[in-house]
Amino acid sequence: MIDDLAARLPLPVSRWYDRFRRFSEPLGATDNRRVMVGMLPAAVRGLLLQRGKQGTPVRFPASHDAWFDFGYPRDEPEMADLYERAKDGQWDGGRDLAWGTSVDPRDPDVPILPAGFLDFSVLRRAGVTLDAEGERALIHDIAAWLLSQFLHGEQGALMAACQVTEAVERFDGKLYGATQVVDEARHIEVFHRYLSSKLGKLYQINDNLFVVIDALMTDARWDMKFLGMQIMVEGLALGAFGSIFQLTREPLLKELLRRVILDEARHVHYGVVALRSHVRGQLNEAEVREREDWAFEMAVLMRNRFLAREVWEERYEGRVPWSVWAGFIQDSVGMEHFRRQMFRRLVPNLREIGLLGPRIRPYYEKEGMGAWFEGEAAPTLSPEDMLAA
Ligand SMILES: [Fe+2]
Ligand SMILES: [Fe+2]
Repeated sequence: MIDDLAARLPLPVSRWYDRFRRFSEPLGATDNRRVMVGMLPAAVRGLLLQRGKQGTPVRFPASHDAWFDFGYPRDEPEMADLYERAKDGQWDGGRDLAWGTSVDPRDPDVPILPAGFLDFSVLRRAGVTLDAEGERALIHDIAAWLLSQFLHGEQGALMAACQVTEAVERFDGKLYGATQVVDEARHIEVFHRYLSSKLGKLYQINDNLFVVIDALMTDARWDMKFLGMQIMVEGLALGAFGSIFQLTREPLLKELLRRVILDEARHVHYGVVALRSHVRGQLNEAEVREREDWAFEMAVLMRNRFLAREVWEERYEGRVPWSVWAGFIQDSVGMEHFRRQMFRRLVPNLREIGLLGPRIRPYYEKEGMGAWFEGEAAPTLSPEDMLAA
């Protein structure tokens, strides 16, 4: 019925109506008012004002402290080891990938994503019938949309890695953080190059991803930045990249993702090392509860609202109701695989750092994420594990 009402309004009015509707949707189910209020400014900027889509540079206010240490302590062997591994693991985004590979994003013999990624019968029932070329074109758009969101997430990771390098007090963490900054720059380089030179398409940042990035960039607390970026965004990205790595048959994209995944695995490992002792040893019960609830809200936000909205706006807005499209994406085989990989990588890390206590577990179970409670966390996974299905 709401869709019917929106469909009868002139397009500019229905878009504003829709923005308010999405803004006013409750953020999950923990009822933690502190978390809700904390997220509000990011939600206003992202969902209501759509700051990420204005075509101009976006200012994110930052208010964290930068920590120096003129004693240069090198007293954290696990972080020091990550720093050494990061230096050894550097690669060149220009030279080390076969950019000469010819890529046709609609070639059925070398698909970017498999034909079964989407269930086109859902669209047919809504009156949209696509021929084989049309189906491949839509899958091309979905692949470009996913990789565009990866790219925007990488920009968030670059800025967050800079902030985290300043905001962490531990010196081994700063040295490691510097390597993550250059890793993220390389990821931006390769995703942007792939999108512009091979897929020929770049989508704007999704509003919900904008909210997540905004919330952690503007939070002054160093551990919230770590939790938001190193655990949530990096963890989800690791699973998302792994999913596309497994599904794609296009060799250049596969190799690009393989290399990025191995970098991201270090980033998540760093987040776990930095947060484990802090959450378990230094936070009080109320502070742990707030972070548990925040992490859960973020997980649900990323899962329920990552629905290729920008593709719908470009192709079907005004023709196919949003609810039909949302179901089409949400229930597709490909996105189901995608979500499973994401939470498989994320949930064990939340357990490892101490943010998956008995109070919050039923919330995850209710959302179907309970299967990963006992999965392997980042510090015990090998590079081969990271790439495995
Ligand atoms: Fe990255
Ligand atoms: Fe990263």
